[in-house]
Amino acid sequence: MKELKILAIIVVLVLIGYWGIEPLAHSIMHKHVEEAIKKYNLPDFKFSDLDPLPSGVKGNAEAGKETVKAFCVSCHSLKKEGINAPMPSQAAAQSFGVVPPDLSNIGGILDEKYLYNFLKNPQKATENPKFSMPALGLNDQQIMDIVAYLKSIAKKNITGEDVVKEGCVRCHSIKYQKISAVSPADTMKKYLGKVPPDLSVIYKAKGEEYLDAFINKPQAIIPGTGMPRVGLSQEAQEKALAYLDEISDPHKEQRQKVGLLVLAYLAVMVGLTFAWKKKIWKNIH
Ligand code: HEC
Ligand code: HEC
Repeated sequence: MKELKILAIIVVLVLIGYWGIEPLAHSIMHKHVEEAIKKYNLPDFKFSDLDPLPSGVKGNAEAGKETVKAFCVSCHSLKKEGINAPMPSQAAAQSFGVVPPDLSNIGGILDEKYLYNFLKNPQKATENPKFSMPALGLNDQQIMDIVAYLKSIAKKNITGEDVVKEGCVRCHSIKYQKISAVSPADTMKKYLGKVPPDLSVIYKAKGEEYLDAFINKPQAIIPGTGMPRVGLSQEAQEKALAYLDEISDPHKEQRQKVGLLVLAYLAVMVGLTFAWKKKIWKNIH
């Protein structure tokens, strides 16, 4: 009986430690993060602070193609149409701080409402007043045409790896995957105030809840940060997080399997020990 009581006390203590102390420590250490998540209801895939899509304006992909050729390819490549970057990377990075991303698949990863707002006012949508793409003075019809066009040419079935490569790698490296940031560190440091951190194990370091909020609205989590709001759609962000999870811990599945085996082994040993003890005590009594 005594052993059972001790066992019960240990179990209770472990449970308190697991469910009581860990979240408590978490909420103390990440108080401002928890507060920001609540205040802005993050991740906010409705992009509640931005303007709604203009009602009654329907985008025309054909017209959008012409508008993109007129307004965008002076800075961006558009490989899908065989249009290469107008400037060498180094020169582009010197001018803009980063190399402008290729536009072929961007319509498949950014949220539509975000993209509309971004093309109207890049600084406001990214929440980065220094964002180096200028507002181009496009009207709602032109913008919705571009949005329709960019969505129409984007690769279908975009993967998490695609999302990260198209949306993040102009700034971030992922060294364990042998991916280097497209833009040079020195121009990014000048432009963004910091060299963006490597993303190889960021999922392990920061955790899903944090990343889900930070990527969706960086300024809410780190006020004044140089990282722009990228505006990933919900689907794209979920895929990106799954990818970052997978690469940050490639042996997770294997480890979980081994963990189960160890638990089963321990259970068998406990049973055997118990039987053995009973047998010995039976003779003594
Ligand atoms: C004067 C150069 C210039 C022009 C013209 C320009 N862009 Fe950009 N664009 C940039 C730069 C530079 C960036 C990256 C800035 C950064 O990441 O800080 C960018 C980023 C973007 C992004 C990524 C946004 C995000 O949330 O990550 C999209 C989408 C985009 N541009 C679309 C367009 C479209 C569509 C046009 C034409 C209507 C256009 N751009 C015209 C320079 C330009
Ligand atoms: C225009 C460049 C740029 C782009 C594009 C960009 N980032 Fe960042 N990112 C930064 C910078 C700069 C920082 C450092 C922020 C700081 O510490 O203030 C950063 C920091 C981060 C951090 C670390 C946050 C922390 O708490 O330390 C994560 C995670 C991250 N970015 C993820 C992403 C993901 C995922 C994408 C693509 C969806 C992305 N970033 C796109 C520039 C960028």
